[in-house]
Amino acid sequence: MQHLNLDDLGQYSDVVLSRSGAAVTVRFVELADADALQAYFRGLSVRSRYNRLMGAASELPAAQLDKFIHVGEADSFSVVATVSRDGSETIVGEARYAFDEATSRFELGLSVADSMQGQGIGVALMSNLECRAAALGADQLFGDTLRSNEAMLALARKAGFTFAPTPGDWKQVRFVKQIDTVPTANPCAVWRLAAQSLQPILA
Ligand SMILES: CC(C)(COP(=O)(O)OP(=O)(O)OC[C@H]1O[C@@H](n2cnc3c(N)ncnc32)[C@H](O)[C@@H]1OP(=O)(O)O)[C@@H](O)C(=O)NCCC(=O)NCCS
Repeated sequence: MQHLNLDDLGQYSDVVLSRSGAAVTVRFVELADADALQAYFRGLSVRSRYNRLMGAASELPAAQLDKFIHVGEADSFSVVATVSRDGSETIVGEARYAFDEATSRFELGLSVADSMQGQGIGVALMSNLECRAAALGADQLFGDTLRSNEAMLALARKAGFTFAPTPGDWKQVRFVKQIDTVPTANPCAVWRLAAQSLQPILA
């Protein structure tokens, strides 16, 4: 497993492209992002927030927000997708993932701001998460979503996931993907750093 330097999270930033070719930065959440991240969640439509949090909530509950901004605690990580607007950074998406080293499984959840949906950011974010999972040494990616969440189901299908029942919850479905190849298509700083650290071993 690659060990991240939590004192220098900026080095793990990536730039992915929306369908129109617009640059979207994917970077770890930092403590200073707390207000902007909460504003992002408050700004989601009721439906998007319900789908993301799998329940009714007007914002990210305080305990969860605290977990989101403490990257690396309990092997859980949050990233934000941001664009530059008039010189300032705006959050247009987020994802949270957890890596279980014992099972080599990587669990994920994500969202994209309503005004930015349908532009290929979700699929680019998924691809970047796959890359981050591979860098951590994961064999399998998975997430759970509501059965009624057609957009997430379609996104997962498009990203090559298969489906299985979510244990213990008939309202949800699990999307699953094995990682059997090294992802190369999308830029991913975490993966590049992991590959670099392998160089002496491979040489
Ligand atoms: C699910 C979500 C992340 C998709 O993000 P997105 O940026 O809109 O997705 P993309 O534009 O990358 O779309 C990728 C593919 O997903 C599918 N898709 C996306 N939105 C869809 C929709 N509303 N209906 C049907 N399919 C959809 C399509 O197959 C699409 O590919 P295509 O446009 O070439 O047909 C976004 O809708 C979202 O944030 N929803 C609210 C939060 C949520 O449900 N999170 C999931 C919890 S795990």
